[in-house]
Amino acid sequence: MTAPTPTRDDKFSFGLWTVGYNGADPFGGPTRAALDVVHVVEKLAEVGAYGLTFHDDDLFPFGSTDAERQKQIDRLKGALEATGLIIPMATTNLFSAPVFKDGGLTSNDRAVRRFALRKLIRNLDLAAELGAKTYVAWGGREGAEYDSAKDIRVALERYKEAFDFLGQYVIDKGYDIRFAIEPKPNEPRGDILLPTVGHALAFINELEHPELVGLNPEVGHEQMAGLNFQAGIAQALWHGKLYHIDLNGQRGIKYDQDLVFGHGDLHNAFALVDLLENGGPNGGPAYDGPRHFDYKPSRTEDEDGVWESARANIRTYLLLKERAAAFRADPEVQEALAAARVPELGQPTLNPGETVADLVADRSAFEDFDAASYFNAKGFGFVRLQQLATEHLLGAR
Ligand code: GCO
Ligand code: MN
Ligand code: MN
Repeated sequence: MTAPTPTRDDKFSFGLWTVGYNGADPFGGPTRAALDVVHVVEKLAEVGAYGLTFHDDDLFPFGSTDAERQKQIDRLKGALEATGLIIPMATTNLFSAPVFKDGGLTSNDRAVRRFALRKLIRNLDLAAELGAKTYVAWGGREGAEYDSAKDIRVALERYKEAFDFLGQYVIDKGYDIRFAIEPKPNEPRGDILLPTVGHALAFINELEHPELVGLNPEVGHEQMAGLNFQAGIAQALWHGKLYHIDLNGQRGIKYDQDLVFGHGDLHNAFALVDLLENGGPNGGPAYDGPRHFDYKPSRTEDEDGVWESARANIRTYLLLKERAAAFRADPEVQEALAAARVPELGQPTLNPGETVADLVADRSAFEDFDAASYFNAKGFGFVRLQQLATEHLLGAR
């Protein structure tokens, strides 16, 4: 089966740190040579991506001089111009350098917090200059291993202080940029602040500029917490907070695998693509931002394997998009959806203008409602629906 060819309109993007991952893990060193940013941009254009994303430290190593930094920025700009790739998103590395061992924006050490804010706004200025519309905030080290080591309530207060400051900064500068918080339950810290989509949504409500802050949920991060990613994305959409998305694969509750998209829970990936592409108000896309792959080519692969795995993310996404469209178009699926009363959930529970008194006076809702024998052993048929989805996913229909 051939997958459709990606176009710029598909908005596929990759982090510089993803294809650039050299294979180092806590148990062994690099298995691949470092990749130069110009080469990465050229290869990503070939693979069919429209965008590159980066942390400051991916582009110019931590501690670079101003001249070294500028040289790398200019080289990146040249490659973007030559290929037509764009920078839809950028972010800050507040987790690798030893200074951030207790976090950046919520380190117990105030001088570290001030340094982290300066590092962040420096790269935010660059992101704005490069035309990025989203600035991701993944709080990798914002957390703790020991309950007595971190006062979580004041850490959240400092986190809020940082986002309030950043929101005001973006307003004052007139930047067309929004922040996207990326939740993760653990790793590298034992516990990370804002561990899930739900925690982050609640946090955003406490900010001075909640309209400037949304989410960048990652498939594997919710699944590391045993949660349903598609359901989390649906809730983020319901809140109007899906500002960006990190697509990858994860197999259950274990370390962060960052596998290729679809190389984990494929059923959930199918449901996710169906939601993103067909879950909008009129059956169109529910999300029109970048389809960003945040994965790590396994350390067993060579450089050819890196580009093969980059293509694999795109192919799987496009195949799932095709399969989801076939699922939606199948009359039997439509009939099964109706039989399962899926569309009926769209009907408000109360009549227009109905009051408490009206509902209480409606005998058919309660006194005359035969709850004990209502279904008369008749089921919803959800399993049939899931099997139809499975057969479309397998290309059997
Ligand atoms: C992870 C995270 C990171 C962040 C990235 C953006 O795998 O733990 O996904 O890759 O997305 O660092 O800040
Ligand atoms: Mn991850
Ligand atoms: Mn991520």
